[in-house]
Amino acid sequence: MSDHPKRYTITAALPYTNGPVHIGHLAGVYVASDIYARYQRLQGRDVLFVCGSDEHGVPITIKAKKEGVSPQQVVDKYHAIIKKSFEDFGISFDNYSRTSAEIHHKTASEFFTKLYDDGKFEEEITEQLYDPEAEQFLADRFVVGTCPKCGYEESYGDQCENCGTSHNATDLINPKSAISGAKPVTKSTKHWFLPLNEYEEWLKDWILKGHKKDWKTNVYGQCKSWIDDGLRPRAVTRDLDWGIPVPLEGAEGKVLYVWFDAPIGYISATKEWAQQYNKDWEPYWKDKDTKLLHFIGKDNIVFHCIIFPSMLKADGSYTLPENVPANEFLNLEGNKISTSKNWAVWLHEYLQDFPGQQDVLRYVLTANAPETKDNDFTWADFQARNNNELVAIFGNFINRVVVLTHKYYNGLVPQPAYRNQVDTDTMEMLKTYPSVIADSIERYRFREAQSRLMEVARLGNKYLADEEPWKTVKTDEERTKTIMYVALQIAAALAVLSEPFLPHTSEKLNEVLNIPQLGDALNWDAITDEKELLPPGHKIGQGELLFSKIDDSQIEQQLEKLRQSKKENEMNNATISPQKETITFDDFTKLDMRVGTIISAEKMPKTKKLLVLKVDTGLDTRTIVSGIAESYSPEEVVGKKVTVLVNLAPRALRGVDSEGMILMTETADGKLVFLNPDLPDVDNGATIS
Ligand code: 2FM
Ligand code: ZN
Repeated sequence: MSDHPKRYTITAALPYTNGPVHIGHLAGVYVASDIYARYQRLQGRDVLFVCGSDEHGVPITIKAKKEGVSPQQVVDKYHAIIKKSFEDFGISFDNYSRTSAEIHHKTASEFFTKLYDDGKFEEEITEQLYDPEAEQFLADRFVVGTCPKCGYEESYGDQCENCGTSHNATDLINPKSAISGAKPVTKSTKHWFLPLNEYEEWLKDWILKGHKKDWKTNVYGQCKSWIDDGLRPRAVTRDLDWGIPVPLEGAEGKVLYVWFDAPIGYISATKEWAQQYNKDWEPYWKDKDTKLLHFIGKDNIVFHCIIFPSMLKADGSYTLPENVPANEFLNLEGNKISTSKNWAVWLHEYLQDFPGQQDVLRYVLTANAPETKDNDFTWADFQARNNNELVAIFGNFINRVVVLTHKYYNGLVPQPAYRNQVDTDTMEMLKTYPSVIADSIERYRFREAQSRLMEVARLGNKYLADEEPWKTVKTDEERTKTIMYVALQIAAALAVLSEPFLPHTSEKLNEVLNIPQLGDALNWDAITDEKELLPPGHKIGQGELLFSKIDDSQIEQQLEKLRQSKKENEMNNATISPQKETITFDDFTKLDMRVGTIISAEKMPKTKKLLVLKVDTGLDTRTIVSGIAESYSPEEVVGKKVTVLVNLAPRALRGVDSEGMILMTETADGKLVFLNPDLPDVDNGATIS
């Protein structure tokens, strides 16, 4: 079709190599991008699908320190595990590279040098946070503090995980070193900045006024909010010893910022692939008729929609992304997936417990994909979707077709006789699916696309159940042949249409139906064109179960694993933090703590953690913003007696002045609870001393 570009460059976010990959990664980025890439390849389009390990950045050095090994050892270990997981799950990258590869160091250095030579950077000596105990500069994840935008107290130096804002470490309120816990000092150091402010107008035109309105609402909305807030220069270098050395004289001990080098990894992965296959890499990045797509999770939006495009624009020779289909997050059994809390389903462990069942997980993650909002993965849903959908609908249909074809016709596709209205309607219906599924995939609606695919299996099941060949075989041989012929055509269509979603199943089904014997004739378009998919006389192969039931004990085993993680976490959390430094009695008497009652509460818009409370302190009724929304609903807190530090200097959180602090503690499983002076005769305003 002429409205398609000449080629597709599809990128999937490079995973950090500080741990294995889990279901959240698959659901957010890799299954979706794989469906898209496989689908486009099936249409005969020129597709390049690249990814690789993101091996620089602070999380890797932190992990190395913790494990007492070198960063290189950390990335070597996880690169191998991650690469294997992707292969096992059939993620069909044309190249899975890594950012420690020589070709990447060279590509990233050259990219930086060109921008430097073209005068695209601002060079500045600035005050940066420095850990006097660890004797090192603190950037990115080496520093935590309060987010200046939303008040989240655990924000990282470069990005707040609560509100997604990307900022500079020096913007944090009350910063603390993640290495030693020390309060950082500032120290001057030279860095190179990409003046994003100079790209603001261009970004406005490109994203806001341009055609990017067809980007997903979450992506467009985030971009708009950043641009509306005003962009500032971003440092693209860091004082670290792990990363790509800044290729300039006088920049010893400095490396490229990981978010500068990582997206260039897509380009290096393309170059590596081109070298391997003796191809030209440039058209995949520089030809106007190339559709560049970045598949990512929502925490990566600013980097792929604002910073990387500005870098490409600064270079001037690159094409820009046509779309950035970002997914939201997947939770697990109601809680945020967390590597450090081992609250995850690791792909390599899943395969040990469910060998050969990659497609079941792919199916469930797509059926439940967090395309427009965060979603929850539960093992009960996993079991139900496998048993009630894959086994009972898809598998059952194929099994019946294959068994009956062998039983009645020795495995040969029968010659159909007269087609009645039901047969014609069924075949007509079947013909509509390729374009319906394609349309959903083209719009990045993979859940919808997969549910259409299941309708094809349902169509087949219903057709067999209504036409009952096992009955007609006793009375009407010709009718039976037609029924089985139609059912076999539906089975063949399923083999083709399921390939992007369930590649292992599609491969098996192709074998079962002996489709490779038919050459290239059977493809996506053939289903719509009036073509015969499996011709009479074609011999199908032996049956093989596509899916098998998952029983309760397997699910219980998974839930037990999670309970175990929870217990271990509780035990780890139960470690008592060391006593803080001694204060004087005078220091203590400066604290004015009172009994108060919460009289109203509402959620702070656009935050997950904050409630805006009105508290009767006995002195007055005042507003206090408290980070308890994940532990309490507004309704639950109204009427509660609480302990309030009333003479804390007010501070603005998300534009609301918070006039005090409510004292809390944390339960072993991380829930915040009030220090509740719930004594019958204590009134609001009573002092606590
Ligand atoms: O968030 C992450 O896991 C990053 N490692 C993604 C990098 S994507 C790209 F730019 F390389
Ligand atoms: Zn924030």
